[in-house]
Amino acid sequence: MAYEANALRYDQMIYRACGKSGLKLPAIALGLWRNFGFDRPLDLSRDILHAAFDSGITHFDLANNYGGPQGAAEQNFGILLKRDFLPYRDELVISSKAGYRMWKGPYGDGGSRKYLISSIDQSLKRMGLDYVDIFYHHKPDRDTPIEESMMALDQIVRSGKALYVGISNYGAEETREAVRILAALGTPCLIHQPSYSMLYRWLETEKVIDAIGDCAIGCICFSPLSMGKLTNKTVNDPVGIDDKVHKRLIQLNEIATDRGQSLAQLSLAWVLRDKRVTTALIGASRIEHIADSVAALNKLDFTPEELKRIDEILA
Ligand SMILES: NC(=O)c1ccc[n+]([C@@H]2O[C@H](COP(=O)([O-])OP(=O)(O)OC[C@H]3O[C@@H](n4cnc5c(N)ncnc54)[C@H](OP(=O)(O)O)[C@@H]3O)[C@@H](O)[C@H]2O)c1
Repeated sequence: MAYEANALRYDQMIYRACGKSGLKLPAIALGLWRNFGFDRPLDLSRDILHAAFDSGITHFDLANNYGGPQGAAEQNFGILLKRDFLPYRDELVISSKAGYRMWKGPYGDGGSRKYLISSIDQSLKRMGLDYVDIFYHHKPDRDTPIEESMMALDQIVRSGKALYVGISNYGAEETREAVRILAALGTPCLIHQPSYSMLYRWLETEKVIDAIGDCAIGCICFSPLSMGKLTNKTVNDPVGIDDKVHKRLIQLNEIATDRGQSLAQLSLAWVLRDKRVTTALIGASRIEHIADSVAALNKLDFTPEELKRIDEILA
């Protein structure tokens, strides 16, 4: 049956300005890194994407290497886009990235103009798209002058293959440098995509969030549930989890319960507490994860006591 999106999809989501740009992103976005490759039933991927869009999640995040195997997530997404989402293309923000190893030889990873431009062409073909909304340099490449990578991003926008560009996994100084170069080229940096969760606070300790705030760019935080660790599943079944981490999860879950939230909801609200963070970028392996995660938006505020207690647990 043809997919018809939920008519009330925009009622439950919060949309936040992405830095000082005119683009608004949903506070919760869905990434297709895992669970969308050829190793999963396409119907399940389809149901998860429907659940997400029906809940107001307008942003789907991909990369050249998501799978498995590499490229499979873009290929599957292309099939589902054609089947269900083409009438909604203008309601969607679709991103892709290049940076990690994608094909053999000296031009299959990094940050050269050669790699980035070949890679976006391949991604567009796999997804059956004319353009992506956001294209990222996936990680800094210290073997390539940053100017070359940023000039490639600028060329990608000017040639109509992406509307906006961003950077991912860049440190604080690299972020400031990338933003400065892109501004000089006339293609402003839209967004940074770092990892950030209660269990991984590199964004704060390395002052990347300060660079993001100073540069007034957007910030979409990946793995806000620490790849599924910050969930009730791990509280109840800590297989492969360090005892110390498990103790913390139990204590954090007590705070979540007092707030009437699941641990996943507390974790997402915590990432979104900083106004410099635009979006929490989740993954999902089940349809139910979408509704549970989006319901985090029902309680985003924290008391100073709750924040202090969380810091003590994580110290
Ligand atoms: N730029 C980069 O370098 C980079 C790196 C990594 C990821 N990313 C992006 O970030 C996205 C998300 O990464 P991630 O998968 O690590 O995110 P995550 O949200 O931290 O973890 C997702 C996992 O958490 C569990 N889960 C999700 N919602 C839940 C809920 N409400 N209740 C209970 N469990 C829940 C599921 O695990 P189970 O399947 O175990 O139940 C799911 O697979 C990726 O798809 C990708 O787009 C970017």
